[in-house]
Amino acid sequence: MLTQAQNDTLTKTGPGTPMGDLFRRYWMPALHDYELPEPDCPPVRVKLLGERLIAFRDTQNRIGLMDEFCAHRGVSLWFGRNEQNGLRCPYHGWKYDVTGQCTELPSEGADADGGQGPMCKRIKLKSYPCIELGGVIWTYMGPSELQPAPPALEWTQVSPRQRYASKRLQECNYLQAIEGGIDSSHVSFLHGGALKTDPLFVGSKGNEYNDHDRMPFFEVADFPGGLLIGARRNVTDNPEQYYWRITPFIMPSHSIIPPRAGHPLGGHVWVPIDDENCWAWSINYHPGRDLKESELAAMKDGKGIHVKYTPGTFIPLQNKTNDYLMDRAAQKAGVHYSGVEGIAMQDASLQESMGAVQDRTKENLCPTDRGIVMMRRLLQQSADANHAGKPLPGLDPKEQHVRSCSLLLPKEQAFKDHARHGLFPPLGTDPVTV
Ligand code: FES
Ligand SMILES: [Fe+2]
Repeated sequence: MLTQAQNDTLTKTGPGTPMGDLFRRYWMPALHDYELPEPDCPPVRVKLLGERLIAFRDTQNRIGLMDEFCAHRGVSLWFGRNEQNGLRCPYHGWKYDVTGQCTELPSEGADADGGQGPMCKRIKLKSYPCIELGGVIWTYMGPSELQPAPPALEWTQVSPRQRYASKRLQECNYLQAIEGGIDSSHVSFLHGGALKTDPLFVGSKGNEYNDHDRMPFFEVADFPGGLLIGARRNVTDNPEQYYWRITPFIMPSHSIIPPRAGHPLGGHVWVPIDDENCWAWSINYHPGRDLKESELAAMKDGKGIHVKYTPGTFIPLQNKTNDYLMDRAAQKAGVHYSGVEGIAMQDASLQESMGAVQDRTKENLCPTDRGIVMMRRLLQQSADANHAGKPLPGLDPKEQHVRSCSLLLPKEQAFKDHARHGLFPPLGTDPVTV
């Protein structure tokens, strides 16, 4: 349980808040690279950490991410003309380059140099640097003197043929979405049906262990990038061993889902849009091989951790407005434990049902919530460290080299000592998986 003040601190990410300042120290996914498909293409609205921004790709293929609103009288630059290395406001023609610098004031011809004089030089919109990596445009919204090296999460380092990434709007605060992502305990219940049918999950012996032992024991270990959250279950056919699923949580909001059989690994990034919405980025990748056609087809069809969309948007087809297409008969028959179809929407529907921001003053945490408690503590400690000017976990790309694994270990072996080959393997090797 948290106090109201603790809950506020952890969930608010607007400018000047402790958690907002913390998120602004890391590179964050802003949009898919294909949302800006070519030079001079239409600009795209982007909202991150409560800030309304506009993204565009200029004539020289440079990416700009800047304040959405024109410095003159506040028109949204979504209406702008993307032309000749700048975005031009259609109201009076003021033009901005990718750094947000105003380059032309054609409506103010009296200003020296035909609208490029001192006033023009003075006008600059707030803007943030961007990089393209892993099919994603990332941005850094923190102090420029503290900008870290580009991220090196494993899914960003494999070839495009080995990876598939999607994003969906989730209509709740980022923190309850992360908490669902690192909570291995709900899998036996909520996803019990999907484990037997989803093409990206079926066929793992681990599914059987998930099904039979619904009371996992959680052990959490630190590593330089964040936390390793181990969930331990009994093994039905061998009393000498435990089945471990180990989920890395990488600062500030990444997780890697433990694999099942030979399926690709899964990963998430939860990016706050504002305090009541977040982007749930969902990535599948296989570090040792290209994705198969059948796997890609399933991912594009919304299977596994992906969703089907309302056409032309990143809003899930199953959403709050249609009660996620709840099927009570399927719930009763046990086809879908909650009655909602699909792993991603099973999670999202329940997380959104908590309200835009869960009231954590009313919760009752249990031992199976240990990972969640440790993650909240790490975020709070990191926010404090940031304000004190101390080093932060997971900023150095080397600290992001970690992978999930699932494995059987003799009962007396601790996962933090005996799963290192699965958690910190060389790039290009196959996952350790059951
Ligand atoms: S409001 Fe943009 S140029 Fe006038
Ligand atoms: Fe889930």
